[in-house]
Amino acid sequence: MELPQDLRTAIDRELTSISSKELTAIAQGLSKRYREGLSAEGEGYLNSPMDITAYAAFRMPATYAAVAGAINQLGDFGDGWLPKSMLDVGAGPGTAMWAATAAWPQLEKITLLERDKNMMSLGKLLAREADSAAIREADWISVDLNGDWKTDEKDLVIASYSLGELSTEALNSVLMKLWSITKGVLIIIEPGTPIGFNRLKAAREILIREGAKTIAPCPHNDNCPLPEDDWCHFSQRVARSRLHRQVKGGELSYEDEKFTFIAMSRDASNIGEGRILRHPIIRKGHIQLKLCSTQGLKSVVVTKSHKEVYKQAKGLEWGSGTKDMNFINM
Ligand SMILES: C[S@@+](CC[C@H](N)C(=O)[O-])C[C@H]1O[C@@H](n2cnc3c(N)ncnc32)[C@H](O)[C@@H]1O
Repeated sequence: MELPQDLRTAIDRELTSISSKELTAIAQGLSKRYREGLSAEGEGYLNSPMDITAYAAFRMPATYAAVAGAINQLGDFGDGWLPKSMLDVGAGPGTAMWAATAAWPQLEKITLLERDKNMMSLGKLLAREADSAAIREADWISVDLNGDWKTDEKDLVIASYSLGELSTEALNSVLMKLWSITKGVLIIIEPGTPIGFNRLKAAREILIREGAKTIAPCPHNDNCPLPEDDWCHFSQRVARSRLHRQVKGGELSYEDEKFTFIAMSRDASNIGEGRILRHPIIRKGHIQLKLCSTQGLKSVVVTKSHKEVYKQAKGLEWGSGTKDMNFINM
């Protein structure tokens, strides 16, 4: 997965003001702060405009891929559901807006909520280069989500890698507020770690009590059937730029971004019966699948003798939905 060309060009343009040596040092500092947490009271993860440009260059491709991966799992939901308005919550440089616009080019009205002024400035600079008029004309609103804020209803609401940064006291009320303004679908994405997953598992339970229906990744609205020591997450392969390889000190031309997410709606029609939870294991003559299904967790072995189903199973990947496939009854 790669960023769209207009976004890559916009980021490259911002990077020209920083030498690659400076960028490497900044990105290494950032990477350390995200890995080890903040050391001083009042310290932020991103402390200068250069930190923010480095964030966009190094993290945006991965968070963009995660948002795109989550949207992709909505599959046939809503049978041609086409959102016109969108809210990007804790927008950063506008990553979710860019990914949503690629999936739904007919989006007309985009609003972004963000607290960090430098982040907003960068987001606006990047947006100026967009092919999409909705991105160029988006409304950026300076807001601290932990405090008082309001906005009107939106078809699509996305909070990508942002709810985890809110204070624990504010989290529940922000969640309720996001749900109250969601006309169509609310998507929340977090890092694919046990902490990220547990945060979303709790959020999902709260939203279900409010009447929300899960449309992805779970093919049901029941309690999560995974055991305590497991966590539901997915992976997106992201191409690394030359600069990225230099900063990470590795030769790999890609990295795998692990993410976890929930997509909730008021209507859950047409969502399918299962979700593949691990890379399918392909052996000679059979395929092993682990899935979450409308009947709970299932481990299925599909052999060549199941002709039609085997053919379908060959096309599945970690994260695929299994709509209209017979093997949940196997
Ligand atoms: C890890 S970044 C994610 C940015 C973007 N959504 C993405 O996926 O790339 C988290 C963003 O949430 C913003 N944020 C954190 N706490 C916030 C708050 N209380 N109010 C508004 N924005 C907040 C940060 O400023 C930052 O831009």
